[in-house]
Amino acid sequence: MLYTIFFILLVNLLEIPFSTAACYGPYVTASSIEALHEDIHLIQPLPVDCGRLSCDFYLSSSSALGSHGPLSAYGPLGMVGPVGHNIWNPTAWRPDSAHIIEWMTSNMLFGLENNPLSSAGPLSSESYHETLPSINDFGKHLQALGLWGVLGPLGPLGALGPLGPLGPTGPYNTMNLEGHHSVPVHLTATELHNFDLVEVLDESRVHESLDCSFMILGTISFHRETDSYFFNCAPNQFVTIVLVPEHSLDYFNMSLYSNSSSSEHVASSDSMKYINFIQLGLMKNTDGSFRIDVSLHEMHQFILAHSYRLIVTGSHDLLDLDKEENNIRGPHIISCSKDEI
Ligand SMILES: *[C@@H]1O[C@H](CO)[C@@H](O)[C@H](O)[C@H]1NC(C)=O
Ligand SMILES: *[C@@H]1O[C@H](CO)[C@@H](O)[C@H](O)[C@H]1NC(C)=O
Repeated sequence: MLYTIFFILLVNLLEIPFSTAACYGPYVTASSIEALHEDIHLIQPLPVDCGRLSCDFYLSSSSALGSHGPLSAYGPLGMVGPVGHNIWNPTAWRPDSAHIIEWMTSNMLFGLENNPLSSAGPLSSESYHETLPSINDFGKHLQALGLWGVLGPLGPLGALGPLGPLGPTGPYNTMNLEGHHSVPVHLTATELHNFDLVEVLDESRVHESLDCSFMILGTISFHRETDSYFFNCAPNQFVTIVLVPEHSLDYFNMSLYSNSSSSEHVASSDSMKYINFIQLGLMKNTDGSFRIDVSLHEMHQFILAHSYRLIVTGSHDLLDLDKEENNIRGPHIISCSKDEI
């Protein structure tokens, strides 16, 4: 009798984790920041010193995260930046260099122990955990899952993004480079780490699932069209997904799904106030195969193509995510609720 009860209890206990949907998060999106309505009093640590202006000013639609900010159509990731096929983009003029030249320039950069990705650069624990927050509270909130984390060193504007040494202005010409590519980089004199290149692909060249570091130049050609892309990320990293419109009057939205058998919805961003993004802490033991859907939410221009740039930047396992979990707290962070069945 007692054994039977024990057995039933045991089965019940074991069953709970199996019937729970996979758990994603913590994550932050443009929509979750918009839902704060510029009220930051519940954010911890509370941003107080952001330089000359008050911290909540930087959440206005005309500021850092909005359509005039660095993630916008007219920022460095957009059409007027270095990456693109137009005559004014430097990457359009780059000749297809021979592998041997790429390999040599790569060695000259990534072979140095003080290269931009090494422990002498912005991604080292000292730069990230100590120097950045010591600048001021805006700096603190450039850390992952902070209010401006999407603009910080782990996002697309940082050293791992398309404008950094792993992108098409670095040693490798990654424009139209299909497949998954990584390069060995010296973190210190003795320690090597393989980093993924940021391949830049037109949507027509995406035939297979991508890795966790790429930029897609896409277009929504009719109103109800949805573009879907598949990609895979190793666990224990921050994954930052940014959807840059190529023209400021187009408003796109995106939804992230797990590409495992359950196809669970993970997160969405459909803000019209900010440039849409999702910054996800992909915890250990989490499945990192995803599908991302991109649609046009609203269009306020009818002349130019509704083109966009989808940028995925993985932080690699440079940080231990278990230790980062409570670094920043607040209602803008959507956490994984483990007891949800
Ligand atoms: C995951 O994505 C690939 C496309 O890259 C697809 O072929 C596959 O069926 C998907 N897996 C699941 C389980 O849905
Ligand atoms: C975008 O928003 C529209 C409604 O405006 C909705 O129908 C569509 O499913 C959304 N797409 C994504 C990918 O979230």
